[in-house]
Amino acid sequence: MTSNALSLLFALFAAVFAVASGSAFAEVQPRDENLPARVPYVFPRPGTNQIADDIRSRRENGTLLALDGALLNAPLVAQGWNQLFTVIRENLTIPADMRELFILRTAVINNAAYQWGQHESVGRAEGLTTRQLRVLRFAPEGACSFADQKILGDRLAAALDFADAIGTSVRVPTHVYKNLARFLSPQQMVEAAATAGGYAFVSRFTVSLNVDGKMNAEVPVP
Ligand SMILES: *[C@@H]1O[C@H](CO)[C@@H](O)[C@H](O)[C@H]1NC(C)=O
Ligand SMILES: *[C@@H]1O[C@H](CO)[C@@H](O)[C@H](O)[C@H]1NC(C)=O
Repeated sequence: MTSNALSLLFALFAAVFAVASGSAFAEVQPRDENLPARVPYVFPRPGTNQIADDIRSRRENGTLLALDGALLNAPLVAQGWNQLFTVIRENLTIPADMRELFILRTAVINNAAYQWGQHESVGRAEGLTTRQLRVLRFAPEGACSFADQKILGDRLAAALDFADAIGTSVRVPTHVYKNLARFLSPQQMVEAAATAGGYAFVSRFTVSLNVDGKMNAEVPVP
């Protein structure tokens, strides 16, 4: 082999290596702890996958989550999920603190540490206090106690009882429904059921697939 042919071969090899390692770095921009799930994470490079780009556009810093990496194994599930949960996160008319209460309490009921981890800061930003977060984290399931009701206020206490009923027995007793309906319109009751029910789905997804390696993790203490 001539030295020219050798250097051509070397240049080819270097180029292939650069493309391979470059794409590996660009594809994986971890934002969570990125501990392995039960499925491989799929992180398409920006500009190569419309569904992944749509998800990126609503994520902080345009960074895909471990959750997204798991979802993108089934692109149409990822797409439908993104559409539904974009509406739940951005387009509801229920108060945002109540929305985050539904999400955080559902995480506690299902021992879904990943879900709590993603939403504790959102709940705080929407006005939930540390004392209220501790009620969501530690109150026994069932009827909200008088002491906890004082910390939450009547509106959020009614939401807690609704979240506990829908999340534990599925069937919501009439008095629990009516107590929440004192504060919400029919449209908002639909939004409340969609949020608490939707995040029960999120919990089941993230825990069953061990997203971000968190299926056995304890829900953090606020
Ligand atoms: C987004 O980027 C900013 C600036 O680099 C950083 O401070 C922040 O922690 C990032 N947010 C997330 C969720 O990674
Ligand atoms: C949903 O909310 C987002 C963010 O506030 C807004 O840009 C969008 O127009 C809303 N979508 C609908 C259909 O109202």
